[in-house]
Amino acid sequence: MSLRHHSPQDRRTALQADDILGFTPALPEPVADGMIENVIGTFELPLGVVPDFPVNGKTYNVPMAVEEPSVVAAAAHMGKIARAHGGFRAETTDPLMRAQVQILGLTAPGAARDVIMAAREELIAAANACDPVLVSLGGGCRDVEVHLFQVSPAGPMVVAHLIVDVRDAMGANTVNTMAERLAPRFEALTGGTVRLRILSNLADLRLARASVILPGDAFDPGVTRAIAEACALAIVDPYRAATHNKGIMNGIDPLVIATGNDWRAIESGAHAYAARSGRYVGLTTWEAGEDGVLTGQIELPMALGLVGGATGTHPQAQAALKLMGISSAADLAKVAAAVGLAQNLAALRALASEGIQKGHMALHARNIAILAGAHGADVDRVAKGLALSGAVTVEKAKELLGA
Ligand code: MEV
Repeated sequence: MSLRHHSPQDRRTALQADDILGFTPALPEPVADGMIENVIGTFELPLGVVPDFPVNGKTYNVPMAVEEPSVVAAAAHMGKIARAHGGFRAETTDPLMRAQVQILGLTAPGAARDVIMAAREELIAAANACDPVLVSLGGGCRDVEVHLFQVSPAGPMVVAHLIVDVRDAMGANTVNTMAERLAPRFEALTGGTVRLRILSNLADLRLARASVILPGDAFDPGVTRAIAEACALAIVDPYRAATHNKGIMNGIDPLVIATGNDWRAIESGAHAYAARSGRYVGLTTWEAGEDGVLTGQIELPMALGLVGGATGTHPQAQAALKLMGISSAADLAKVAAAVGLAQNLAALRALASEGIQKGHMALHARNIAILAGAHGADVDRVAKGLALSGAVTVEKAKELLGA
């Protein structure tokens, strides 16, 4: 379904989303006032949609809350190409989060580690006693790990990890509560002093993976190889990897925000995972086969929730999930990974051929037209004039507006 040349109202109607998205205010002040402190208003972003985005044989209308022009168009374009060739495949691991318990003041850190591991079953049971509801839903503490640091600025330390299946929650509150409740037991077992009790955003046991295979004729001749060559720079050079990954997050963050999830957690997890080998690298790989077939893959932590937090309280986050028809955090994570891969492909395709400025400036021209004072039909007229003139400036827009 092409939504491009329609009004926002017509798009909502086409998506049969009038009732779920056509309400104002999107975030009522009393709800906002209950979400954070010292509320003085609300801050809005454009909410776009990528229609019919294909993942695992289904199509999703993907909501994106984002200020940057060309992000939605790029994802929609790559979604369309992928749809013609079998779409994206995606999977997730179990939703396992880590909570860290830092133990200091140990004279024999190795012995402390052994004593914690010997009490593993007891600790798992104590963690699970903190959250019977989670356990009844099939989640709960699965394991205990111990990480030993013989040398640190604070002396030797033992860090116990509680590995917790958090089901459909993001899980921060769940695992933080477990870590805090178990702290006295860790002190009693080791004779040390517990300092930090907090989740790790390096959610390396809660991964989402997506892949796509596109035939040689999906792009102009030579572009497939150029995409693989562009990707190679992100494998060897952190300066490029940072920008490569920013482009991936251009796709993921807007969906994370639209669904009321914690985008700072997703960002920190992604970048820490990109550096897990000790060298910061790109989160995707793109390979061009002899026959021109392009294969792309992404793997990254994806700690997304459907219950709790802003996802539960923000009316538009609820509407966004309804629009997608999503009913599990795992499915949301799969779509997020696939959108990240699509966004990266769009950026590499443009960078490896005509460059991004042409398309970007054509879309940015609408912003400039509005800045120059254009309203209604004038926005498109002035934007088109700006794109044709090649000078996307407010001065030029004012001149065109007066014409
Ligand atoms: C711009 O927001 C994102 C890109 O720089 C990503 C990339 O270079 O891969 C285009």
